[in-house]
Amino acid sequence: MFKKKSELTTPGAHCLLKDVGVNAINRQHLRLATYAIEFNQIADELIGREPTNQDWRKMDAVFSRVMRYVETHFREEEELMREHGYPGFDSHKRLHDRFIEDLVKVQSQINNRKVAFKKKFGTMLWDWLIHHINEEDYKYRQFFRDKGLT
Ligand SMILES: [Fe+2]
Ligand SMILES: [Fe+2]
Repeated sequence: MFKKKSELTTPGAHCLLKDVGVNAINRQHLRLATYAIEFNQIADELIGREPTNQDWRKMDAVFSRVMRYVETHFREEEELMREHGYPGFDSHKRLHDRFIEDLVKVQSQINNRKVAFKKKFGTMLWDWLIHHINEEDYKYRQFFRDKGLT
């Protein structure tokens, strides 16, 4: 799924994200999805050719923005869970932590200029996010609704 660039760049790409029941979180997810698409576009352009210094700088900028925003989003989502006593907090946080560890590894590959630009590299963020949002984040929808959050 989501292998073709045309699918990623359709204007309705954000419609593929499930509504997790909390508006502020939905907005953050949409922003993350936008970043993932941007990352995919840049990585896709580098398949089969040697990146220039300018390409690397672009990759550095996009990826550090992704890292910063993923961390911000996870922190806020976790705060909300903790604040309301969400029962799935521990296992959910573990998924977040593991993803951050993966991102740190990717960031060091980028920093060391040792990246194999293949299709899978470009779709990595999108694939993880769409799965996590639609499967894992979606699980708290009813819980937060019951708590009166919108
Ligand atoms: Fe989330
Ligand atoms: Fe999450």
